[in-house]
Amino acid sequence: MTSSQPVTIVHLSDLHFGGFADLKQIEALDGFLPTLNPTAVAISGDLTQRARHGEFQAAHLFIKRVRTVSAAIVVPGNHDIEWWKSPLGLLGEEQKYAKYLRYFSDLRPVLEVPGAVLAGALSSYGVAFGSLTLRLRDVAVKGHLPRSETNRVKKIFDALPPGVARVLVTHHNVLAGGISRRMGIARWRSAHRRLLETGADVILCGHDHQEAAGQIQGSLAVSTAGTHSFRVRGGRPSVFNLVKIDNQAVHIQHFRWVPGDRQFIPSDTFSFARRGPAQVAVSVAGGDQGL
Ligand SMILES: [Fe+2]
Ligand SMILES: [Fe+2]
Repeated sequence: MTSSQPVTIVHLSDLHFGGFADLKQIEALDGFLPTLNPTAVAISGDLTQRARHGEFQAAHLFIKRVRTVSAAIVVPGNHDIEWWKSPLGLLGEEQKYAKYLRYFSDLRPVLEVPGAVLAGALSSYGVAFGSLTLRLRDVAVKGHLPRSETNRVKKIFDALPPGVARVLVTHHNVLAGGISRRMGIARWRSAHRRLLETGADVILCGHDHQEAAGQIQGSLAVSTAGTHSFRVRGGRPSVFNLVKIDNQAVHIQHFRWVPGDRQFIPSDTFSFARRGPAQVAVSVAGGDQGL
């Protein structure tokens, strides 16, 4: 693997195949993705609305088409697991992921592409002890990143030569949403500490249904992609992110959906210095969002 070549990742999230999916956007993505010439496509969960077979089948076909363009990595979102088949994991962990695993073979995928390794970290556990908060509405929605997950990803990244881009893909948003003001993960302070320790250059996440580009503690870039369903936050347009990683920086560019034109157009770009001893302050936006 060459460690210094630039990497281009199309970051999609929350497709929500089912009644809320915007097929016009899906069709536009089919035509648009090849023009972006990605090194990889990452889809950070919530492929379905209700974890139904038909929804998984539509998602599976979409990702099959994506894979004719580039390598792809997919992680499950809270909508993709049948948590009710094993609330609190009391009946074991296998039941809730069985349907997802029929269509996507790995809950914790790792993808190696020229210049980068993308590692999935599982944050979707449904009604689970680690995801519980005092807020009743969070039950089965909130996620968490257990130590076993961050340790596993750290081990993968630690084994890589310096310079190879380290990309962590997870479903739940690790920074608070702009409108929702909410974190996707429970116990986020501990998660932030451990995410920093993984050595990741950038985290790709979704779940909030609002796009964002920011940093954890001013040093670890975070790309949050929006949704391609009608369930956008605050009536805003859908957005996906184009993440470019070069020797110096992680660049996150939003691509906004224009319904009237049926196309995605390039929008705001944010640049964050890559982590490591030789950091240069190139950040033009973001910060740690005061968390
Ligand atoms: Fe979602
Ligand atoms: Fe979600």
